[in-house]
Amino acid sequence: MNHAVLRMEAGREAVDTDSARYARCIKASKKVRWDIDADVLRGRDFDFDHVFLPAGLSKVDELPFLNGAERRLLSQVQGRTYAYVFGLVERFIGAKVLEVSGQHWLGDQVALEALVRFSDEELKHQELFRRIENMLDARMAPGYRKVADPNEVARAVLAKSTWAVLALTCNIELFTQQHYRQSIEPQSDLSPLWKDVFRFHWMEEVQHAMLDELEWKREHARLTSDQKEQAVADLIALVAAVDGILQAQASADADYFIAVAGRRCTGEEESGIRYLLLRAYRWQYIVSGVQHPQFARLLSDMTTPAQMDRIQTALTPILTG
Ligand SMILES: [Fe+2]
Ligand SMILES: [Fe+2]
Repeated sequence: MNHAVLRMEAGREAVDTDSARYARCIKASKKVRWDIDADVLRGRDFDFDHVFLPAGLSKVDELPFLNGAERRLLSQVQGRTYAYVFGLVERFIGAKVLEVSGQHWLGDQVALEALVRFSDEELKHQELFRRIENMLDARMAPGYRKVADPNEVARAVLAKSTWAVLALTCNIELFTQQHYRQSIEPQSDLSPLWKDVFRFHWMEEVQHAMLDELEWKREHARLTSDQKEQAVADLIALVAAVDGILQAQASADADYFIAVAGRRCTGEEESGIRYLLLRAYRWQYIVSGVQHPQFARLLSDMTTPAQMDRIQTALTPILTG
């Protein structure tokens, strides 16, 4: 066989394999599909005697001066933010998935179906997170503040290259699974409803992460080396923007917690709370993702050593801060 034929064969094999992967995502998506009211909420409300965000993510056990009730409250404030941040990022994720689905409109209809299901699920997840926010707002003390608007964030994110947005999305959807498996699932004293929300969410996110990888690789194969340089710069800018939101939300949540906890904090305790929230949010939304083995492998496969160095340098203050 000459080289041209070999290349064609290899190309066909890759397409077949990708098509099979899209088909597997559709099958899994159909199998796990759930309804907000019938499966997740089931007429329940949140139980404030329970922890929301588990300690492995909230890091609340690292503040020895807080008593049990204060740690629980801090886990609930962080749990509310956790739902809010997912709703926030899913605005741009849903829009980007619909946009990249356009590349399959007149092509692989299996891929198209997988991406349509993906965006449909993200719309449902956003509705779930809005419903949760309303339920929590009705039960928690007033004064909680959300620092970023989903549409404004989405407009800024979607202005960056598709490669960078898919990389960020893949990162988010991989850490979502890790959070559930490593921290949420094993902790037995969580609010049953809060735990169920993220159990059902995780079940559909497994497929999303597989699709992110397929689309990110497809996009990578389309770009010139100059475009890849720009894409890496865009990814660094997106991570910095995420960190900016986390800094602002950590500060807002520290203000809220201190105001509603009803405790008098020393200056040292207040700065401890502020520092813990920022470290917890960076761990949740950036560090746990970049350290995810699958994400690390994909990123190193799709960057040059010099580009990886630039990403590492940009991440250092966040990883060590
Ligand atoms: Fe989602
Ligand atoms: Fe998702």
